[in-house]
Amino acid sequence: MKFFVDTADVKEIRELNDIGLVDGVTTNPSLIMKSGRDITEVTKEICDMIDGPVSAEVTATDFEGMIKEGKVLAKIADNICIKLPLTLEGLKACKALTSEGYKTNVTLCFSANQALLAAKAGATFISPFLGRLDDIGLNGMELIGEIRTIYDNYGFQTEILAASIRTVNHVKEAALIGADVATVPPAVLKALVKHPLTDKGLDAFLADWAKTGQKIA
Ligand code: E4P
Repeated sequence: MKFFVDTADVKEIRELNDIGLVDGVTTNPSLIMKSGRDITEVTKEICDMIDGPVSAEVTATDFEGMIKEGKVLAKIADNICIKLPLTLEGLKACKALTSEGYKTNVTLCFSANQALLAAKAGATFISPFLGRLDDIGLNGMELIGEIRTIYDNYGFQTEILAASIRTVNHVKEAALIGADVATVPPAVLKALVKHPLTDKGLDAFLADWAKTGQKIA
């Protein structure tokens, strides 16, 4: 499973990238707003740091506007993936942009039928939003499972990018159910390493080692 980091915070991305955990990055207008930075400037900095795809989202809602904005964003760097909303206009833009060789990420997916349409439009990635479905009492993971089955039934190449991840369990379950990618907030990505028995075991080993009086040299 690939890990994308779901943030526009360059410092957080750098820290995780240095550990080797980052296969790509996803941003959205809210994350750009949170960064407090200019979209072109911050996206360029992220693209220069990361080898994999960096999703940057259009804000136009009509076909022509999405194509225009998508191409402006794609000029930032070769690894830009144009993020488009799951609307009829967004699907049309997805079809046109993928046909021209651009990478696309169709976002705000909340149903298996929407995911089917995105695959038919040639999306590089489909982003089902787990957390937002869980927030309204539905089962986000069930949606990932349905999309996996449908894509496998028909051999669609669109990658399932589990988004709106809130917990470490979301990551584990998305991996078990076969999502290709998880885009994970930095805090959740760091929390994946945590286990109380690891900390306890390390403390015990270090305490015993101190008693030996030895040094590894
Ligand atoms: C990523 O592509 C999405 O924009 C992001 O995961 C949404 O997460 P949220 O529901 O926590 O805002």
